[in-house]
Amino acid sequence: MKTTAFISAAFATAVCAQNATTFINPAVPTGQPIPGNYSGGLRPQVHFSPPQFFMNDPNGMFVDANGTYHLYYQYNPTGLGAGNQHWGHATSRDLYHWENQQIALFPPEESVFVFSGSAVVDVNNTSGFFPDQTNGVVAIFTLARYYPNAAGPQTQNIAYSHDGGYTFQLYDDNPVIDSTSIHFRDPKVIWYEDHWVAVIAYSQEFAVGIFTSPDLKDWTFASNFSYHGLLGTQYECPNLVKLPVRDSEGAVTSEAYVMTLSVQPGAPLGGSITEYFPGDFNGTHFIPFDSATRLTDFGKDNYAAQYFYGVPDGEDAISIGWASNWQYTQQVPTGNLEGWRSAMTAPRANYLQKADRIGLTMMNKLVDPAPVLDEPLETTSFGNSSLSLDFSDVASNALYIEANVTGINTTLVTGSTTLNLTFTSPASGESLRSGFFFGGDTPFWIDRGLVRGFDNIFFTDKFSAANVYDGGDGTLASWRMQALFDRSICEWFLDGGVQAATVLFYPTQPLTTLSLGSQALPPGATVNVAIWSLKSAWAPYANEQGTVVGNVSSSGEGAAGSRRDMIYEGSFSS
Ligand SMILES: *[C@@H]1O[C@H](CO)[C@@H](O)[C@H](O)[C@H]1NC(C)=O
Ligand SMILES: *[C@@H]1O[C@H](CO)[C@@H](O)[C@H](O)[C@H]1NC(C)=O
Ligand SMILES: *[C@@H]1O[C@H](CO)[C@@H](O)[C@H](O)[C@H]1NC(C)=O
Ligand SMILES: *[C@@H]1O[C@H](CO)[C@@H](O)[C@H](O)[C@H]1NC(C)=O
Ligand SMILES: *[C@@H]1O[C@H](CO)[C@@H](O)[C@H](O)[C@H]1NC(C)=O
Ligand SMILES: *[C@@H]1O[C@H](CO)[C@@H](O)[C@H](O)[C@H]1NC(C)=O
Ligand SMILES: *[C@@H]1O[C@H](CO)[C@@H](O)[C@H](O)[C@H]1NC(C)=O
Ligand SMILES: *[C@@H]1O[C@H](CO)[C@@H](O)[C@H](O)[C@H]1NC(C)=O
Ligand SMILES: *[C@@H]1O[C@H](CO)[C@@H](O)[C@H](O)[C@H]1NC(C)=O
Ligand SMILES: *[C@@H]1O[C@H](CO)[C@@H](O)[C@H](O)[C@H]1NC(C)=O
Ligand SMILES: *[C@@H]1O[C@H](CO)[C@@H](O)[C@H](O)[C@H]1NC(C)=O
Ligand SMILES: *[C@@H]1O[C@H](CO)[C@@H](O)[C@H](O)[C@H]1NC(C)=O
Repeated sequence: MKTTAFISAAFATAVCAQNATTFINPAVPTGQPIPGNYSGGLRPQVHFSPPQFFMNDPNGMFVDANGTYHLYYQYNPTGLGAGNQHWGHATSRDLYHWENQQIALFPPEESVFVFSGSAVVDVNNTSGFFPDQTNGVVAIFTLARYYPNAAGPQTQNIAYSHDGGYTFQLYDDNPVIDSTSIHFRDPKVIWYEDHWVAVIAYSQEFAVGIFTSPDLKDWTFASNFSYHGLLGTQYECPNLVKLPVRDSEGAVTSEAYVMTLSVQPGAPLGGSITEYFPGDFNGTHFIPFDSATRLTDFGKDNYAAQYFYGVPDGEDAISIGWASNWQYTQQVPTGNLEGWRSAMTAPRANYLQKADRIGLTMMNKLVDPAPVLDEPLETTSFGNSSLSLDFSDVASNALYIEANVTGINTTLVTGSTTLNLTFTSPASGESLRSGFFFGGDTPFWIDRGLVRGFDNIFFTDKFSAANVYDGGDGTLASWRMQALFDRSICEWFLDGGVQAATVLFYPTQPLTTLSLGSQALPPGATVNVAIWSLKSAWAPYANEQGTVVGNVSSSGEGAAGSRRDMIYEGSFSS
């Protein structure tokens, strides 16, 4: 969670704190979710985005014993830019259909914001908060204080939930980790054998503090992981996660830890980026296996990803990132046009696999989009050829595309051996292009520069990744691409997630035709293509007025009605 933007952020109206432990800005609804209109032309249909207003980092992600995934998020429920940070909340059974829930965490005081953090299920009542239950949830997060013209200290605090994560009580003896630093934030907690472990960023000192606790209340400093990888100007949102290591057949052979760090600003492409380090963790110290810096995404719009707590040991971890970049997130046109800003990435299954020469690579495998797949629009195979598809009648304006190229004799690949995927608007001529050069350094490229709905100097328009595909040694190689196209966000996954890119684009007219073509493939090579239209994950939940109201069955305080009216009538400011 970034700090600098908030120093000038002030509440529009002065309000007295009614209660030392729960300050609620009267413009913010309690007890019921904020309603959303998910029909705008830029609104993703199979990705999570907030009902209205501004969202950033994913927070508190956990999966409960019933298999419900809980996603919290940095949320400004009163504006279209960062500020007034709360924890929004949504739940899902399948990671594609999300139900908006009431806001879960509110600032405890007017001059304090609830920044990023995590949540765990305290099955053993280690905290003592949960006498008669095994599904108690504890959230651990940063509270950031603000003075009129300066940032105050950032401390680590906890809140507990008796109802499975829908509503929380602040712990009486907060903070649980005190600090005078204005840059100490984003605790992510996991369980290690017999104790809790938190990783917390000393953001501007380029260190991740590792702390341990028996009960989530008393924390002991254990070690620092300092000065690793790209520094940028600060470290944020660390994660420590245990991942299975799989062999090339997919069998689990061992396990290892990964430390992730989000760096902002200062990414190689500008702004925000996430890097990771595979290594060993022994309960107090994390030691990376090598000194390399690895990035989770070769696009520019995937930051601060978090891993769900509660995924069973030995299974792939599941992560979701914030699909944006601080360089332009507060300017993107969805704010003025549709009253919301930022989406989350699609869910990714993560495991480690050994890549030739490179060592352990964290795979970013798209979680099976089956829950949102419609009928296939196209399944075909060809050599050197192309197909084009008019999908203007697909109501969601969202597609899932697979292209597998098999039987590639790599000795016969030339500089013109290519496969391209392009989305176009016949109305405006705009296009979002991508493609693969099979020869040379085998770069995969993406170009959003021919989409014209957003003009910003930092909205870098071209991306590429060195994608070393399998083959050589006299065997025929194969190469695989998946793309999840969703109105204003597209994600590409290469070779099942060896490389992944998250790319925002803002067309002035919807992109409604697709072309996919190859040329100069070696004899015997085949392109196997399948294209599905996607069902909107939001449309089924809209009422007759087109409003997605979310879970209004909540047993809230009843103040929601009038506050919701204020939200609709209040003016946006960004
Ligand atoms: C403050 O709010 C909490 C949570 O709603 C409540 O339990 C407590 O009684 C309130 N305290 C006061 C002094 O109103
Ligand atoms: C929802 O948004 C669409 C597109 O921006 C707009 O046409 C429609 O009127 C909105 N619906 C409501 C209920 O505001
Ligand atoms: C699972 O669902 C059951 C029945 O709805 C409920 O009683 C229980 O509290 C839920 N468990 C969790 C962990 O939310
Ligand atoms: C809960 O207790 C069991 C039995 O002692 C232990 O194996 C497990 O690691 C504990 N888990 C957590 C999250 O406390
Ligand atoms: C949970 O912890 C509280 C406080 O220590 C204790 O009173 C209660 O008995 C515990 N319950 C269980 C089931 O361990
Ligand atoms: C850990 O790093 C923090 C931030 O740089 C520093 O204040 C602290 O002294 C370090 N602790 C140790 C034991 O090095
Ligand atoms: C963990 O690793 C650190 C650093 O190598 C070492 O000092 C410490 O003793 C280890 N702890 C355990 C429990 O092995
Ligand atoms: C690839 O092409 C070369 C040159 O034609 C040929 O010698 C080789 O046998 C081919 N490899 C395979 C696996 O077919
Ligand atoms: C793919 O695009 C590249 C870059 O514009 C171009 O060089 C290549 O010929 C294209 N290939 C196909 C099959 O359209
Ligand atoms: C593709 O075209 C090239 C000539 O450009 C030809 O040599 C090759 O056999 C063709 N590949 C396939 C798979 O048909
Ligand atoms: C592409 O390959 C994957 C992995 O082998 C397979 O699951 C998928 O069905 C293939 N898709 C097509 C269109 O052939
Ligand atoms: C709706 O919210 C309540 C808490 O207010 C929760 O108990 C319930 O499980 C939620 N229902 C759904 C379908 O999310």
